[in-house]
Amino acid sequence: MATALVYLITIMAAALASAAFGAELTSDYYSETCPDALSTIKVLVDAAILSQPRMGASLVRLHFHDCFVNGCDGSILLDDTDDMIGEKMAKPNNNSVRGFDVIDTIKSAVNTVCFGNVVSCADIVAVAARDSIVALGGTSYDVLLGRRDATTASIDDANNDIPTPFMDLPALLANFDSHGLSLHDLVVLSGGHTLGYSRCLFFRSRLYNESNTLDPAYAASLDERCPPSGDDDALSALDDTPTTVDADYYQGLMQGRGLLHSDQQLYQGGGGDTDALVTYYGENPSKFWEDFSTAMVKLGNLSPLTGDEGEIRENCRVVNQG
Ligand code: HEM
Ligand SMILES: *[C@@H]1O[C@H](CO)[C@@H](O)[C@H](O)[C@H]1NC(C)=O
Ligand SMILES: *[C@@H]1O[C@H](CO)[C@@H](O)[C@H](O)[C@H]1NC(C)=O
Repeated sequence: MATALVYLITIMAAALASAAFGAELTSDYYSETCPDALSTIKVLVDAAILSQPRMGASLVRLHFHDCFVNGCDGSILLDDTDDMIGEKMAKPNNNSVRGFDVIDTIKSAVNTVCFGNVVSCADIVAVAARDSIVALGGTSYDVLLGRRDATTASIDDANNDIPTPFMDLPALLANFDSHGLSLHDLVVLSGGHTLGYSRCLFFRSRLYNESNTLDPAYAASLDERCPPSGDDDALSALDDTPTTVDADYYQGLMQGRGLLHSDQQLYQGGGGDTDALVTYYGENPSKFWEDFSTAMVKLGNLSPLTGDEGEIRENCRVVNQG
């Protein structure tokens, strides 16, 4: 009897400890400690998009690239130091990921309205992505909060863990699977390409080596922008409406107007599982809005640091001193 009781108490203590460490994210995490945090972030995201419409796309991508490298832990925001080469210079990010200044502005405003360092950088990035989606016509969703910030970042992990636009469907699926995400998640989250632009560097080989899978009129318009060599940084929109969250991305794929090789891999016309989902979302925009929001929550839940793990960074670019 006494042994059974000790056993029970041990189990309960272990359960409590794991609850404290593996703490769940919650949407009202800052409602007591900083009730004005979310409204402050929203005002600044709206202002950033107003002055530069592409910034919404960039903030969504920043969250994706943060979450795919060791979880949504703000690691992408860390500047390089003498001892650490972080994620910013990794191939998918260098001269490509944007929005760091906007996050800095938000972080310092939030530190002011919270009377201190209360809201993590990882949470700010997650909320900024949601606010961008809403500002550009997407469906709102509750962002789960309580992530803590990483104290380290790795260029190698960023190079290995973020999918490339040159991947075929099996490699894309394997990459998403390694993050616990399904084929359905791949198709829905790739809908992030309803926003923003790509540089010529990333779609040149699709233009000149795969023209058989490209809509001819579209290919001709891209040729002017992206020559066989040079102009690596010339931009082209990822869908017809790069500042609106809509199903045009999927409709474009059905017409051979996927800009990246990885985009067009999702619709190859052979009637595969991804073809069926692309058609479904292309024909049911309201389902895309709904499922994209759900999938963004799932993306935001990838391996967060919680409880005693990590820290709340004072400045998103550097680990706290001392
Ligand atoms: C499925 C694998 C994916 C690949 C291979 C991929 C690749 C790329 C590439 C190459 C670019 C252009 C970058 C540049 O030119 O500098 C880009 C842009 C973008 N990606 Fe993805 N991406 C993927 C998934 C996602 C996901 C899941 C999201 C978000 C949910 C996303 C959101 C964006 C956005 C919004 C942009 C435009 C950014 C801007 O204009 O600043 N991507 N992506
Ligand atoms: C990142 O881009 C800069 C500027 O174009 C370049 O000088 C640097 O070599 C690049 N870094 C890496 C690691 O590719
Ligand atoms: C097209 O493919 C050929 C052969 O694989 C390669 O040598 C060439 O660099 C590619 N061109 C572009 C623009 O990627």
